[in-house]
Amino acid sequence: MAIPRNLVYVFLLAIIIAFAGMIYVIYSEKDLTSFIHSSSIEVQENIMVHPLFQQLQEQMQKLDEVPRLDFKDLSPKKFYKEYLTRNIPLVVENGCKQWPAFKKWGDMSYLEQSFGSQSLYIQRLERNDKSRIFQNYGMQIYNRRNTFEYFKNKTENDTDGGLVMYFFQNEMIVNRNLIHDIQKPNFLSKILRNRLTGMTMWAPFVRKPEYKDKERYVCVIKGSEQFRMVSPVYKHEIYSGVLEELDPEITPLNFFQRVNTTKFPLYERAKVLNIIVDEGDCLFVPAFYWVQSHTVAEEAILVNFEYESHSELANLLFKAIDHGILEDD
Ligand SMILES: *[C@@H]1O[C@H](CO)[C@@H](O)[C@H](O)[C@H]1NC(C)=O
Ligand SMILES: *[C@@H]1O[C@H](CO)[C@@H](O)[C@H](O)[C@H]1NC(C)=O
Ligand SMILES: *[C@@H]1O[C@H](CO)[C@@H](O)[C@H](O)[C@H]1NC(C)=O
Repeated sequence: MAIPRNLVYVFLLAIIIAFAGMIYVIYSEKDLTSFIHSSSIEVQENIMVHPLFQQLQEQMQKLDEVPRLDFKDLSPKKFYKEYLTRNIPLVVENGCKQWPAFKKWGDMSYLEQSFGSQSLYIQRLERNDKSRIFQNYGMQIYNRRNTFEYFKNKTENDTDGGLVMYFFQNEMIVNRNLIHDIQKPNFLSKILRNRLTGMTMWAPFVRKPEYKDKERYVCVIKGSEQFRMVSPVYKHEIYSGVLEELDPEITPLNFFQRVNTTKFPLYERAKVLNIIVDEGDCLFVPAFYWVQSHTVAEEAILVNFEYESHSELANLLFKAIDHGILEDD
């Protein structure tokens, strides 16, 4: 059967439009996951914390601060029993100090050589004279794949007097040298499936809070990283899953800023954990936690390990909640 010629043109047109759209998405100056500014959101006054979450808050151990433990005092059994299964974050002091990476990765030429021609997703941020800080709240401009050499050149030569910065996040570590420079945390790798081992290099900027259904272990090879974390039992206190216009896996709040509690009154009851992880230390972030981080050094190099959640049940429960099982109607 012959295909009518007009139809061929229609298909061709559709393909061209799709392609143009793709190009637009890749090269335009729009950050598609653009942060919805909290001031533009209508918040109804009758939003309440669901009884399920109230129950969870009462039953779970309340943390005022993130516990710390030295790497040499951490056994797999202790970690499993006292932290992993109880969803408690943990700073592991000296968690990466003995890695070869700790000594080697400060040298940009070594990294350049090791990464070679591997393509990295490099992102670029701009700020204007007036705003003191970089943020990726809708200001992401360049994001393209390129080499480490390009990244290094841009970081050294093209920052427009500090108004521009470049970073890459969670790039999979595939080079043999680099793999040998790090040590997987045995206490996690032995029991959970490792989904990602990635490297991040960035400078100070305000990032968005992130939610993941993965257990995370972040090691600070260089610099210092400040984290604000919120347990998933305070999901409604941070207005996640209660505002119709927002995806249930997004919070409209910025944990590093003063939140307007007239508008977001529930936030006053949210427990926000604050921790600074120093060079050589690592942080365990339990699955389903909200995390927002900020670099408190000129530059930071991090290695991030992600694992399947230790609890299939918790995984299914949170998925179901995000798909609306708590709604009455
Ligand atoms: C920065 O620019 C100078 C001059 O163009 C060049 O010699 C140098 O190699 C550049 N830096 C990098 C990392 O490429
Ligand atoms: C490095 O950056 C400079 C200035 O932006 C540019 O002229 C040069 O071609 C770059 N070199 C490489 C190797 O990318
Ligand atoms: C806080 O929110 C309330 C209610 O939306 C608004 O009237 C007030 O102007 C806000 N305050 C600030 C400091 O933005």
